[in-house]
Amino acid sequence: MARKFFVGGNWKCNGTTEEVKKIVTTLNEAEVPSEDVVEVVVSPPFVFLPFVKSLLRSDFHVAAQNCWVRKGGAFTGEVSAEMLVNLGIPWVILGHSERRALLNESNEFVGDKVAYALSQGLKVIACIGETLEQRESGSTMAVVAAQTKAIAEKVTNWDNVVLAYEPVWAIGTGKVATPAQAQEVHCELRNWVHDNVGAEVAAKVRIIYGGSVNGANCKELAGQPDVDGFLVGGASLKPEFVDIIKSAT
Ligand code: G3P
Repeated sequence: MARKFFVGGNWKCNGTTEEVKKIVTTLNEAEVPSEDVVEVVVSPPFVFLPFVKSLLRSDFHVAAQNCWVRKGGAFTGEVSAEMLVNLGIPWVILGHSERRALLNESNEFVGDKVAYALSQGLKVIACIGETLEQRESGSTMAVVAAQTKAIAEKVTNWDNVVLAYEPVWAIGTGKVATPAQAQEVHCELRNWVHDNVGAEVAAKVRIIYGGSVNGANCKELAGQPDVDGFLVGGASLKPEFVDIIKSAT
């Protein structure tokens, strides 16, 4: 089963109007493989989403970096899935480790968010990943399986789900997982989906890697059979993001 390569760019809490314009100009001028080969989704902060969507080339798409867990209302400061749909924003990143850690988003809360966002017609990049302590204690698979289980318990249709494995110890550290480390978890994760969700979903679902991906390490990572793409942080703000898109296999 051929899975279309997926490259996401998570801009996190970064950018000014001028900087955003510069990034979009670089992206719009880039010569990259066609949409048949690679799916590119960039995720600016909320405040720049309509602006980026209005300027970005039509073969690239945008994602929000989060959304609320249910219908909008008296939830000060939150942005609802309905609002993203209303703005024509097709994707949303949910369960990022920074939100799990800093805002105490639990596995169950993330599962509920994924289910609600999908129910409103959004496509979801669902993030999972273990901390260094969890890896060193040998509980990597137990942790990512529990995170994925909390999503699988609420999701019936996986067509609009991309799983992003982002080992916390590799995020923003420059300490990228080795291709073997990434492949091992992606393969075990795909086996988990096979056994607990179904063979067809396991074959189709894109499992992408995030954590210090850059122009130099992306090619070897992309060559791993169960690495279906990337969720890129720091490097997505730089021209080398184009090289990462070109690593699509
Ligand atoms: O969501 C992607 C992000 O967590 C990875 O960050 O800067 O290590 O590429 P970075």
